Amino acid sequence: MKFQKTNDERKEYRDIRDSTRSKLKYVKNANEVLKDATPEAKIFNAEKVLVELPKKRFYRQRAHANIFSDKSAPYPVAPQEMDWSQLYPAYYDAEKKEMTKKVTIADIGCGYGGLLAELAPVFPKSLILGMEIRMQVTSYVEDRIIALRAQNAEADIETDSNHYQNISVLRGNAMKFMNNFFEKGQLEKIFFMFPDPCFKKKKFKARIISNTLLTEYAHSLKEGGIIYTITDVEDLHIWMRTHLEEHPLFERLDEDWEKTDVSCQLMINATEEGQKVERNKGSKWIACFRRLPDPVII
Ligand SMILES: C[S@@+](CC[C@H](N)C(=O)[O-])C[C@H]1O[C@@H](n2cnc3c(N)ncnc32)[C@H](O)[C@@H]1O
Repeated sequence: MKFQKTNDERKEYRDIRDSTRSKLKYVKNANEVLKDATPEAKIFNAEKVLVELPKKRFYRQRAHANIFSDKSAPYPVAPQEMDWSQLYPAYYDAEKKEMTKKVTIADIGCGYGGLLAELAPVFPKSLILGMEIRMQVTSYVEDRIIALRAQNAEADIETDSNHYQNISVLRGNAMKFMNNFFEKGQLEKIFFMFPDPCFKKKKFKARIISNTLLTEYAHSLKEGGIIYTITDVEDLHIWMRTHLEEHPLFERLDEDWEKTDVSCQLMINATEEGQKVERNKGSKWIACFRRLPDPVII
């Protein structure tokens, strides 16, 4: 009986969220839409559900991403074709029909969005994007952002840093489509927080850092921009560090730099995975790299 109740709850919760997500995620003020778009529900108070932070247990998803199952993830054919106004409606100038800002910070494989929520008030003038391949996990982050924006709807974008209009998420495979989203040199920071370790040798090709992929990330990253990596798996740390060290477009930043960089300190415990490692008293391996200028070809 308890099992049946849980299933009914999950179904109703998901129905409430699913029925309005596509409307709410594209608007600046979710509260205005909620007035006429709140679905009917028997178990939950639907209006409350929609502005509360989402509950992870209702977004079940397989533990590991299948990087080859991204077929339904839409992507633009080129960066200039990307409609960012949908993801950051507060930064769209309707008169000029253009965005007032571009995304400059990306969290690749953002999981449940912990880093996005922490970065939002620290970099209130930057647009920050999470890219995540798992569908249910992306939906969770969308609902988290809808709720954060609704709860902070009164915050002034110019003066108040807790408006959460500057964070967004999209479902996408960073191993294939990064350069479809970002122009050359657009990004200032790229985060790889606790990426999937892909332990078996035959799965190494699914690792999010490789020589070829680094060249793609270097394209999106501006000169002087930073790649941040952190993992609890030493073998993966060595893999990421070595690939970055061997790549001609990156140089490692030292521990003193790590201690003084706000983002580096913040990322250690910001994400859900990082907090799990902390609870289990695991190790955290950090490596940060600066994007070097393109070599001059004579
Ligand atoms: C171990 S989780 C870490 C999540 C988050 N960064 C954190 O620290 O809590 C790795 C995440 O990367 C996502 N991921 C794996 N490969 C990806 C890819 N090619 N593109 C986008 N996301 C990916 C997975 O779905 C998963 O959510």
